[in-house]
Amino acid sequence: MSDADPSRSPPKLWGGRFSQDTDAFVERFTASVPFDQRLYRQDIAGSIAHARMLQQAGVLTAAECEQILAGLEEIRAEIESGGFAWSVPLEDVHMNIEARLTQRIGEAGKKLHTGRSRNDQVATDLRLFLREAIDQITGELERLQWALVELAEREADTVMPGFTHLQVAQPVTFGHHMLAWYEMLARDRTRLADCRRRTNVMPLGAAALAGTTFPIDRELTRAQLGFDAVSANSLDAVSDRDFAIEFAAAASLVMMHLSRCAEELVLWSSAQFGFIDLPDRFCTGSSIMPQKKNPDVPELVRGKTGRVYGHLMSLLTLMKSQPLAYNKDNQEDKEPVFDTVDTLHGSVRAFADMLPALQVNRARCRQAAAEGFATATDLADYLVRHGLPFRDAHAAVGAAVAEAVTRGCDLADLPLEVLQGFSAQIEADVYEVLAVEGSVASRDHVGGTAPARVRAAAAVARRHLEASRESAESQS
Ligand code: ARG
Repeated sequence: MSDADPSRSPPKLWGGRFSQDTDAFVERFTASVPFDQRLYRQDIAGSIAHARMLQQAGVLTAAECEQILAGLEEIRAEIESGGFAWSVPLEDVHMNIEARLTQRIGEAGKKLHTGRSRNDQVATDLRLFLREAIDQITGELERLQWALVELAEREADTVMPGFTHLQVAQPVTFGHHMLAWYEMLARDRTRLADCRRRTNVMPLGAAALAGTTFPIDRELTRAQLGFDAVSANSLDAVSDRDFAIEFAAAASLVMMHLSRCAEELVLWSSAQFGFIDLPDRFCTGSSIMPQKKNPDVPELVRGKTGRVYGHLMSLLTLMKSQPLAYNKDNQEDKEPVFDTVDTLHGSVRAFADMLPALQVNRARCRQAAAEGFATATDLADYLVRHGLPFRDAHAAVGAAVAEAVTRGCDLADLPLEVLQGFSAQIEADVYEVLAVEGSVASRDHVGGTAPARVRAAAAVARRHLEASRESAESQS
């Protein structure tokens, strides 16, 4: 191939043994640079650490190392200013940067790839990328948790119906409901933290698959890049993508949780429920129906859950049946990982921005809780406290509910004499347990919905959030 002919691709960095140019379509088909250029920061950081280590090991001279570091910094600036010409014939982010380095600094640039391979390079880049993404997503999850704790405190006394089968079951407090969401996210954070531990292991040094003949010092690169450990087996190091799958699995669970919350927000903001008002700036209107205010953000988050589940399936299927060690299949890991990161980050962020502005219609919530015989269980418990076996109490209350249905009223609206017709144990104090406030206040134990318990649970959550913030600050 002639360098002089501008219509031809630049020579391949691996072109030595080839006698034919790559097919033009195959060149595009196999290239990853359109999407993996996103790894340029991680790739440059990895190269800087590698070059410094090579110098310490006596493979590069100090002058060569200096030139490489300066050249890489310039390339980073070039990429960030938009002035870098990404080349598809150069395949991927790694060879684009390396070729540009040699173009800029000459001979020394050709020495950077000593003792490494794109196989350990790309695995390192992806781990660095995901580590940072996990930290950012964790930060957004924390912001969302704070919003939930604050809502829980604000609405600790707000009574609403609790549902089973989407039928009114028993009264709960709105704050209690918010803390249920909080618990889901608390579990999600532990899963992400766990995934981060296995992500933060350094493959660099595995080279193509078998390690390298050069006297590398993996501990030096590990420390520079902030990895917790170096991989113990070179074959595993270049081929393992468990961390990406674990991330997609943890992300799927977060999205599933957000989707459940989204579903409730959609229901609650409908005219039929009327429990909440979503801030206008998180909703959109209809181009034809002027009255509409659609809960687009929750709906979209619910919808985006599917693509994250899809990425989990893609990654699992991508890895299935791959023989050791690296295979080109692995190039297909990037788009699912990137899209999972973007989708998850955006979804959590949208919720964290939206929830503090949620308006709760307290009167409507209370009314809905009082409407569906939500305190029937409280009446049964009352009868038990007055000596009836629970099954008999259940039957008596069932009959009382039937009477209320016939009269078209609630249990609390039945006159005392009528209630006493169902059980002689009933006295005037029954109306305290039939009131929704009495019902929630009496569920006064750890994990219960009583306002006092909700405040206590919110205080515990606050302490957890503060402790995790402090430990994050002390680490950074
Ligand atoms: N672009 C490749 C990837 O994303 C980099 C590693 C290529 N290695 C190779 N032996 N072809 O996986």
